[in-house]
Amino acid sequence: ETYDAAGKVVAPGFIDMHTHLREPGLEAKESIRTGTMAAAAGGITTIACMPNTKPAISTSIVVSGIKERAAKEGYVNVEVIGSISKDEEGKELAEMGDMLEKGAVAFSDDGHYVYSSRLLMNAAKYMTSFDAPLISHSIESELNADGYMHEGAVSAKIGVPGVPSVAEDIAVARDVLVAGYTGAHIHIAHVASKGAADIIRQAKAKGYPVTAEVTVHHLTLTDEACMSYSTATRVSPPLRSQDHVDAMRAALLDGTIDMIVTDHAPHAPEEKDVEFRKAPNGFCGLETAVGVVLTDLYHKNVLTLEQVVDKMSCSPARIFNLKGGTLKAGSPADITILDLDKVWTVDSKKFYTVGKVTPFEGKQCKGKAVATVVAGKFVMKDGAVCEK
Ligand code: DOR
Repeated sequence: ETYDAAGKVVAPGFIDMHTHLREPGLEAKESIRTGTMAAAAGGITTIACMPNTKPAISTSIVVSGIKERAAKEGYVNVEVIGSISKDEEGKELAEMGDMLEKGAVAFSDDGHYVYSSRLLMNAAKYMTSFDAPLISHSIESELNADGYMHEGAVSAKIGVPGVPSVAEDIAVARDVLVAGYTGAHIHIAHVASKGAADIIRQAKAKGYPVTAEVTVHHLTLTDEACMSYSTATRVSPPLRSQDHVDAMRAALLDGTIDMIVTDHAPHAPEEKDVEFRKAPNGFCGLETAVGVVLTDLYHKNVLTLEQVVDKMSCSPARIFNLKGGTLKAGSPADITILDLDKVWTVDSKKFYTVGKVTPFEGKQCKGKAVATVVAGKFVMKDGAVCEK
């Protein structure tokens, strides 16, 4: 098979370490098939799926089930993130050893932000004998419960109760302290507050085994977007004010934050078709990530092309011990081909994901993934996912 890549950029396959695939149990929002099609369409060759499914990914059976189904129906590589806790109450450790044996690459809370300090300590002590990170979802649950958006000038203006950014700072402080104390590698998910970035910077300076990610939306959108009351802007952590966005960019540039992720969190469109305060948090991101990063960060001289490739491919491969992230001989032929100058408009009607809702609807972009190769096979050409 051939593809004329003259004038295009051939990069190692892009990796998204924060995708909610929703299967098993929540297929009205997304399935392994539709989620991996969306990844292929967006130029992403490997995704790691989060454990807040139904049942949660807390047993080796669920890990194997997802891996088998992904091998059969998936369009891209699927890595699995297991749950730290056995159940939603977060009282007991899940079968972490068994899940590692079946190929889980990391562990996270199951999306309910409930794990206690005690559970986290136990999990961290356990993980010191393994080379796989614990992922902190970084929101203090009690403070988070009171709001629907970022607490600040915009929430005050439109009269919507906000979540204080200190809710995030508190959670991140606890989790990096546990990393320092135990020596377990803790990866901070979707950093969005200046305070959290500062804490991670200090922890890294002390040599704590901490890594971190930031989402595309926390690098490019502010809480001003919530003035529309559009549920497409509801997400956790919330879209924050410009000073926080600037701090995310600075943290990415100085190495405090290691990678860019999507936090692709699809919901059935009708679930988002409600009043702002009633909508679930999250929106899809796999099909917009590369275009938005190229438009708002590469073309606006925030990141160089080398930095884009590092933050979206090499760095996640290195940190999570994945095989991709390099074009060296002998590495898997997972490749993302970029057209840096392609002008296009975000149109959710064309998305493969079930969860069409995006805060980037109608955005004029410059730059797009135009072909995706997984294990030597084209899975997307010129925006169309290839038949399996
Ligand atoms: O907005 C979000 N939605 N943030 C998360 O961390 C979880 C996710 C979900 O599962 O919908």
